[in-house]
Amino acid sequence: MKQLFSKGATLVMLGTGGVGKTTIAAALALAAAESGLDTGVITVDPARRLRDALGLERLSARPTRLDARRLRRAGLAPDLRLSAMVLDVKGAWDGLIERFVKSPETRRRVLENSFYRALTEQFAGAEAYAALEQLYDLHASGRFDLEVVDTPPAAHAFEFLEAPAHLVRLLDSQGVRWLVAPSAAAGRGLLGLAGRAAQFVASQLERFAGAGALAAIGEFFAALAGAAGSIGDQFRKVEGMLHAPTTNFVLVTTPEADRLIEARALVERMAREGFRLRAIVINRFLDERTYRALAEAPRREPPHLRKIATLRAALGPDGADDSRVADLAAYLEDYRADQRAIIERVSAFARTLPARVELVLAPELEAGVRDLGALGRIAAMLADGIAGRRFLADAKIAAAGGDTSGRKRLAARRA
Ligand SMILES: Nc1ncnc2c1ncn2[C@@H]1O[C@H](COP(=O)(O)OP(=O)(O)OP(=O)(O)O)[C@@H](O)[C@H]1O
Ligand SMILES: [Mg+2]
Repeated sequence: MKQLFSKGATLVMLGTGGVGKTTIAAALALAAAESGLDTGVITVDPARRLRDALGLERLSARPTRLDARRLRRAGLAPDLRLSAMVLDVKGAWDGLIERFVKSPETRRRVLENSFYRALTEQFAGAEAYAALEQLYDLHASGRFDLEVVDTPPAAHAFEFLEAPAHLVRLLDSQGVRWLVAPSAAAGRGLLGLAGRAAQFVASQLERFAGAGALAAIGEFFAALAGAAGSIGDQFRKVEGMLHAPTTNFVLVTTPEADRLIEARALVERMAREGFRLRAIVINRFLDERTYRALAEAPRREPPHLRKIATLRAALGPDGADDSRVADLAAYLEDYRADQRAIIERVSAFARTLPARVELVLAPELEAGVRDLGALGRIAAMLADGIAGRRFLADAKIAAAGGDTSGRKRLAARRA
């Protein structure tokens, strides 16, 4: 992924919940720092151990540089320039209001407004927007050569890309203007909603704020009226950043069939809507042992898997007489079949990808990714790993004798 590490660029992680976005964001940032760039990474709610590894014990939204001692202890170059920070959703939103709402009294009214709080805490895209806002500021500060931003957990990765546009629409909508300028609808009052468009907007707004919150909504937009133009411009700038030539997306997925289907749909949609998807990381692709064996000797079945393949033959024509041995053999055969199926599934997925999108593989580390050392191992595989497509083309694990899995065979034997 080295070609993604260029000065002035930003890397934005995408992916559904739990696939390893936070881990891969940190590993990519480390790899970028190792390539010589002064790198800043914004992480979102990192697991405790990762947080500690990155020196984020204080959970600061300010960039904290990893110190030389910590790097040296992990066997990394002590002069690496890597700074980490965490996403501060409330801070990002309140900062926006503080920047654009000039009057302290109005500012206070907005910050205390219940609709504002619901919007920034519950709106599906509020965290996503905050991450982008924090990234925007960091990028604009010019402090780092490269920024990497992790993204909040979401059911659908596209929600993240849509967040700024949703906010622009919310602020632009005719209905909101109608709410803000009630005098235009003489006799109806602020909340005497008429017209289907206005009612639709009101119902959308109430989804975030809860029923009966229209008064708060009215007050919010009234307070914001003076600043709505500049806040809308800011939403648009952040939206623009998503399409900037220096903004590169990295999609993270795991190799399960349903995840790959989701990833495929996202690739298509991103292409249609003009987002620069540069790389896909298949995280937890094989276990590290299988991955390393195939990386060292492509085209040769890893020895530990070959042994499993010959186990059946070694157990004799009737299989094992001892059912415990048979169970163990079935378990191992399943494991081998699973590693093989992952390669096949990801190969099929790779064939559907446009050639411009790099494919990168990161194996599952048995001990998890909890310290800088493990992060460094993932970083090295991301940066210098064998190109994913070549790995897949070469990797061969022969089909088991017969095409049923060990467990099925065992069941058949028992029947
Ligand atoms: N390649 C890997 N090998 C071993 N463990 C991993 C690997 N990648 C991620 N993990 C572990 O999986 C868990 C989830 O990873 P992570 O927090 O990075 O996912 P996420 O996509 O950020 O999740 P969320 O959507 O909840 O933010 C963590 O405990 C992490 O240490
Ligand atoms: Mg995460």
